[in-house]
Amino acid sequence: MSWHATVLTLFPEMFPGPLGLSLAGRALEEGRWSIETHDIRTHGLGRHRNVDDTPFGGGAGMVMRPDVIGSAIAAHRPAGDPRPLVYLTPRGRLFRQEDAARFAAGPGVMLLCGRYEGLDQRVIEEAGVEEISIGDYVLSGGEPAALVLLDACLRLLPGVMGGETSAEEESFADGLLEYPHYTRPAEWNDRPVPPVLLSGDHGAIRAWRRAQAEEATRLRRPDLWAAHLSRRMAGRPSPQDMTGSVATASAGP
Ligand code: ADE
Repeated sequence: MSWHATVLTLFPEMFPGPLGLSLAGRALEEGRWSIETHDIRTHGLGRHRNVDDTPFGGGAGMVMRPDVIGSAIAAHRPAGDPRPLVYLTPRGRLFRQEDAARFAAGPGVMLLCGRYEGLDQRVIEEAGVEEISIGDYVLSGGEPAALVLLDACLRLLPGVMGGETSAEEESFADGLLEYPHYTRPAEWNDRPVPPVLLSGDHGAIRAWRRAQAEEATRLRRPDLWAAHLSRRMAGRPSPQDMTGSVATASAGP
């Protein structure tokens, strides 16, 4: 059984979308993972297949009904399904590399994509849903967030990225941002590459990259830097050591 994603959405046409191309697309063709989408609308009520209603207590927007979402989940989630049921919402816990690693290590995920103001809270509690946000901004729906979550998981599946990257990630898995990269030409628009990179001195290159990674993390991500420093003080390994670091992972092709 390959890694399997089930997506409940009002817009099934959004999937696999970009995940049908590039590395994830090739892995999909090779059967390393699979995806099934279900249109929540088919569980809607009445002639218009309504899925939402106005919020109790008043306020703007519409809320997705618990009975509709509950029946969509019941219809597509087999009893005892070991996969986590994830609801993408800006109210959720922030998605991190270790979540991607946890999901990738299991049999797959079931994703629930909301629209409107969100989902009735009771169905979230009833169904044992894990609420996840991909960042501190509001998207018009959970679908792009689901694509992001899936992409982060898929590149960790065996055989999806090829061998090289994981070793590279592990060697640098310190919760730091990645060092900057350079390639040919050695001089471009009067800009030479940092001379150390042409020196052939691998120790010096490693030290330079490390310093660059630390500096970028300190300046750009004080949150990651503080976490890195406190781990270093405690002599503890990075939480990403098992998984490839947050930001040191090379992106796809
Ligand atoms: N739906 C809307 N905004 C979102 C976000 N930032 N993360 C996850 N799901 C969302």
